[in-house]
Amino acid sequence: MCGIVGYIGKRDVAPLLLEGLQRLEYRGYDSAGVVVSSPKSGGLKMVKAKGRVRDLEARVPKRFTGTTGIAHTRWATHGAPSDENAHPHMDADGKVAIVHNGIIDNASDLRAKLTAEGVEFLSETDTEVLTHLIARNDADTLEEKVRQSLKQIEGTYGVAVMHADFNDRIVVARNGSPVVLGIGEKEMFVASDVAALVSHTRQVVTLDDGEMATIKADDFRTYTTSGTRTTAEPTTVEWEAESYDMGGHDTYMHKEISEQPDAVDRVLRGRIDDRFSTVHLGGLNLDAREARTIRRIKILGCGTSYHAGLIGAGLIESLARIPADAEPASEFRYRNPVVDPDTLYIAVSQSGETYDVLAAVQELKRKGARVLGVVNVVGSAIAREADGGVYVHAGPEVCVVSTKCFTNTVVAFALLALHLGRIRDLSVSDGKRIIEGLRKLPEQISEILETEGDIKKLAEQYAEAKSMMFIGRVRGYPVALEASLKLKEISYIHAEAYPASELKHGPLALIEPALPTVAIVPDDDLLEKNRAALEEIKARSGRILAVAHQEQEKADHTVLVPKNEPELDPILMGIPLQLLAYHTALSLGRDIDKPRNLAKSVTVE
Ligand code: M6R
Repeated sequence: MCGIVGYIGKRDVAPLLLEGLQRLEYRGYDSAGVVVSSPKSGGLKMVKAKGRVRDLEARVPKRFTGTTGIAHTRWATHGAPSDENAHPHMDADGKVAIVHNGIIDNASDLRAKLTAEGVEFLSETDTEVLTHLIARNDADTLEEKVRQSLKQIEGTYGVAVMHADFNDRIVVARNGSPVVLGIGEKEMFVASDVAALVSHTRQVVTLDDGEMATIKADDFRTYTTSGTRTTAEPTTVEWEAESYDMGGHDTYMHKEISEQPDAVDRVLRGRIDDRFSTVHLGGLNLDAREARTIRRIKILGCGTSYHAGLIGAGLIESLARIPADAEPASEFRYRNPVVDPDTLYIAVSQSGETYDVLAAVQELKRKGARVLGVVNVVGSAIAREADGGVYVHAGPEVCVVSTKCFTNTVVAFALLALHLGRIRDLSVSDGKRIIEGLRKLPEQISEILETEGDIKKLAEQYAEAKSMMFIGRVRGYPVALEASLKLKEISYIHAEAYPASELKHGPLALIEPALPTVAIVPDDDLLEKNRAALEEIKARSGRILAVAHQEQEKADHTVLVPKNEPELDPILMGIPLQLLAYHTALSLGRDIDKPRNLAKSVTVE
């Protein structure tokens, strides 16, 4: 999705902004642009380019100097990717420049009104209307021009504005799209994502929805869109700049898959309480008495986070014996859900900024529900909106497809389920059993990662398939769903996931030698049932790759994973399938870190 970066200080701004844009590339974009203000005249100079940041860089002239500037990577919503539609947008007099993330819903009405007043539009974007509103506003200060213009728009925004007549400042505002200020020594940064800031400063202020800020080289202030001053306490970002580097791997996806033993160690660290065979989750804001009154749990997320939520629901049901289910947040928010006071809602999101999840949380809060967040990015919108929650501590995830965050989110759900279970009826011995299982995970994940060479060979054999089927039963089904999503996202091979029990109700008709099936076959009480499904597939000459605890006679290939507790097995079963998707995509020559049409965080509808 779109990215914003801005700077005001003493340094030459263009190289800083281009570096910031490169750090935002992972979010997905189709064009980029930059504006700097000339230190002498205050005049604004702009360069834009369709394509990558390197295309923009190639166009930046030698004398593109300045010490204040804003830049943007655009993900097309209104109007195709083009030089004209790239941000920043400027008014005809070249006084105002803005970069904007989000969508202005009433853009076409405003465009018609402005056109009737004689304004000529240079792009097809919704953003350009805001540029003209600000440029035409006759208030005395830039803050007031921006504030009054924002009042006229409906929709979401993270926005940064420069004005040639007020060249000592950048004014920014947030409503539904992240804006973070970075505080340096006599310099200030702004970005839509801390990734663009951490190589310069780790002191940040995250704006709330409805908040604005004025940043100057040596000072900043925050206030609401109604003009009331707010207090903003800077916080320190945990993630180091190096966490965003590739660290010797060929792709971020490979790096992030490999990091999983350490990432899981982090989500467990400091949380296990051996004395009571439970875990401490400091940020939950839910005491034992309240926890005992929960009658249902509803988990909401999108994509991979939804799949993690499905496994989480299973963990909560089995360990805490609270009825739980997961639903895509994108569907939930549109079906006027019945919000029950005894239900605990849990929003799951790696980025903490996914619009569909955030909107579902806001709708739930409006209806008086208690909402927890299971989130990776500290201080993100969903984390802030929730009443409490669990951070998954996976570290920054740069690859568009989620791997380590999926694993850590499921582990975070295991912790939550154990915590709730031990408050309710989970016995001490079962608590101990799960804790031992959790402690084994990092080493067992390392063991699986050591088999990468074998999985690579298998992936090369299966890469020729036009389509693949993934099956699993009960705990194995969300693993199948996630593995199928991973494969399609990065290899573009069509894939379906079904509960193994549903095969005979329809999908069996598809089985033939050209359609390989990946089957999740844990050594649990459903082993015989799963084996029966393999028999059914084999009888129709289907090829089978089993992910299992022991060799499967009916399978053409078996990938063995170490055994843990049955409740935790899905965490391990998912890992070889991340590698399978990775090596399949690699052998097909795909752009693994930036799959076509996808963005890292989907901050628009
Ligand atoms: O940041 P979130 O976890 O809220 O993102 C949700 C989905 O957009 C995300 O999981 C998506 O499905 C990824 N491409 C998965 O690899």
